[in-house]
This record gives sequence, structure tokens and C-alpha cells, in this order.
Amino acid sequence: MTPALQSHATMALCQLAPVIPVLVVDDPAHAMPLARALVSGGLPVLEVTLRTDCAIDAIAAMSRIPGARVGAGTVLTAHDAARAKAAGAEFAVSPGATPDLVAACTAEDLPLLPGAATASEVMALIEKGYRTLKFFPAGPAGGPAMLKALNGPLPQVTFCPTGGVSLENAPDYLALPNVACVGGSWVAPAETMARGDWSAIEALARAAAALRR
Ligand code: 3PG
Repeated sequence: MTPALQSHATMALCQLAPVIPVLVVDDPAHAMPLARALVSGGLPVLEVTLRTDCAIDAIAAMSRIPGARVGAGTVLTAHDAARAKAAGAEFAVSPGATPDLVAACTAEDLPLLPGAATASEVMALIEKGYRTLKFFPAGPAGGPAMLKALNGPLPQVTFCPTGGVSLENAPDYLALPNVACVGGSWVAPAETMARGDWSAIEALARAAAALRR
């Protein structure tokens, strides 16, 4: 799948909801109730970071929840892309991009949402054919003002800003013409998951899903 087609696929996913939850699942038993709560709350697109031992199993389990569109986050290497795809991930998200990772996602038919934080990084990804990018780390890299500035010379790119995004500042990002959705971990706090309080997570998802673009 070419980078251009990958970006078509990730754009379609970004358009499904204003927020993509960034999930760190450290107990495999949490995977299914967490996915159910988020999907019920109106957030169908789920990014499971490959930062925990059970992340791959969580992707496989969450993919079985009706309506869930599950991808892998923190995909850093060709090996990560291969195991995410094998587990059933529908897309991959990376904090940056490398030639090896782009080649692997292209070969694996795994749509990649690659990260970029500077004009040169955005230009390098445009050169490869990507048009849908993650802006990471959104807050430290300049927030909405930086995205607004990038939209002048690089209007062909649409972003999913992630990193330091919250319910409170998400509207500032979502108001921009070059933002399709935002990513954030705030909808699935570690302590709420540890308590198994899935109705609280569903309520956080519902508030996030109500954000206007
Ligand atoms: C991450 O990779 O952890 C994401 O960027 C999430 O960032 P956040 O915790 O600031 O939402």
C-alpha cells in the first residue's frame, strides 16, 4: 500500500471521531471492557501503544469488539509493524518516521500515521506521499500556533496533534483547518482503568466525542 493510500486510510479513520484515545494497557483483562467503554462513548478509533507486554494481545482482543477500529501506537521498527499487523491492527502510529518503518508499513499494507514536528519533517513525508500526519509532541512542539504557521506553506497536509492535548485545549486544535482530529491519553487514565471504572471512561469518551470540529 503506497504512502498516499495509507494517508487516505488514516484520514478516513481520523474523520470518524474528534479524538483518538492513546491507550497504555498493562492488564490484558482490561482490553475488552476498555474498548467497549470507549466505543460506547462514541470513540471508535483506538490506538494501543506498544509499550506494554500485553499490547499485542490487547490489540487482538480489542479488534473483536463490534465497532472498534484498532491500531497500534509507538510503532518504531519494521518488527513492530509486522507484529501489529499480525495481531490485527488496522493502522499504525509512530512518534516520528524512518525509511525502514515507511518501507515496512508499505510492504505490510499497514496504513501509517507518521509523526512530524518541523517543516522539514513534514516536507520529507510529503516527498514520500504522505498527506495525513501526527503532529508530535503537539504541546512542546508549538501547539496550535505552530500548526497554524505550518498551514501557510504546507496546506496539503492534515494533522492529528498528539502529546499534551486535553479536553480543555482540544478545541484550539480542532478549530484549525489542517487538523482532522486529536490524539490523547486523557480519556483512559491509568488509575481509572486500575479501578475497573469503565463507566467513568465511557463518560470521558462521551465528553471527548462531543467536541466540535
Ligand atoms: C503518547 O505518545 O503518549 C501520546 O502522545 C499521548 O500523549 P498525552 O499523554 O499527552 O495525551
